[in-house]
Amino acid sequence: MELKAHLKRLAKKIPGTFKLAGALQYAKFSRQLRKAEADYRKRGDRLVPPPMLRYRVHRALDEASYTQNGIYLSGLMAGHIKALFPQTTGLKVLDFACGPGRVIVGLKEKLPGIRLYGSDIDLEAISWASQHLAHIASFSSNELLPPAIFAADEFDVIYSISLFTHLDEELQHRWLQEMMRMLKPGGVLIATTHGALCTPACTPEELRQLDREGIVFRVGHRGRLKLDGLPEFYQTTFHTRDYVLRHWSGFGIIESYLEGGVNNHQDLVILRKPEAPSHPAETLTGAAAACHAAAG
Ligand SMILES: C[S@@+](CC[C@H](N)C(=O)[O-])C[C@H]1O[C@@H](n2cnc3c(N)ncnc32)[C@H](O)[C@@H]1O
Repeated sequence: MELKAHLKRLAKKIPGTFKLAGALQYAKFSRQLRKAEADYRKRGDRLVPPPMLRYRVHRALDEASYTQNGIYLSGLMAGHIKALFPQTTGLKVLDFACGPGRVIVGLKEKLPGIRLYGSDIDLEAISWASQHLAHIASFSSNELLPPAIFAADEFDVIYSISLFTHLDEELQHRWLQEMMRMLKPGGVLIATTHGALCTPACTPEELRQLDREGIVFRVGHRGRLKLDGLPEFYQTTFHTRDYVLRHWSGFGIIESYLEGGVNNHQDLVILRKPEAPSHPAETLTGAAAACHAAAG
């Protein structure tokens, strides 16, 4: 692992090498994808999405790990929701950045009384989920920038797994503000970040930037060499705990910050919308206030 990271760092410094490595990786990935698609077709239509949609969500082509992670993550979300709301029946819950519904399926089994919604920017994932999982949740798409289609004060819970791990700071602020708009007063956002347990993947330069600024947005391959096929705004972000506590507290009340709260890997943040905001702009501070002003 160390050697691989070291070689990657070296490759980035030698012109052309990083692109060549990307092209080789792309060729290997295309072969594996074709095989996974052929296997998927043989097995017929089930509640598991096709390989490329699964790959976008968790960078693997095997079905077993997709399903296993879905079971784990839905259990994790159900546990937090139950701890936050003693009565879960009737709660309105939004999985924001739901992909093809990896977490939604298990969450409905664990908390059958909740009303579930899923939104994502990936039209293919939403189209698949709408066709196959409409009995579980109501799916819709959203654009790169807010607003989403939902009304203000609509949800008791919004959860967003592995979204803020991929957006730049500006997009994060815009969506944090939008999520607070969509939550009922007293509602909660459960979101994940790449925190301290993920920084072994960072280069020395990135670690220095994290120390200085608390956030790093790493831009990797672009165009065809970007294997997930998602738009180029979607890259990799790391946050320090301090950064999240300082910046996100401008959007809501940070109820918990759990280092390694997701599988001892990503951190998990619970942000509550204040009960009685007098005027939205009056309750915002720091980055949130700047974001509110910029959004007009
Ligand atoms: C790593 S995947 C995680 C998917 C899902 N949360 C899960 O855990 O199975 C990240 C998802 O974020 C979605 N995404 C990225 N930017 C988005 C945005 N601005 N609005 C909604 N979804 C977005 C991607 O399309 C992708 O489905």
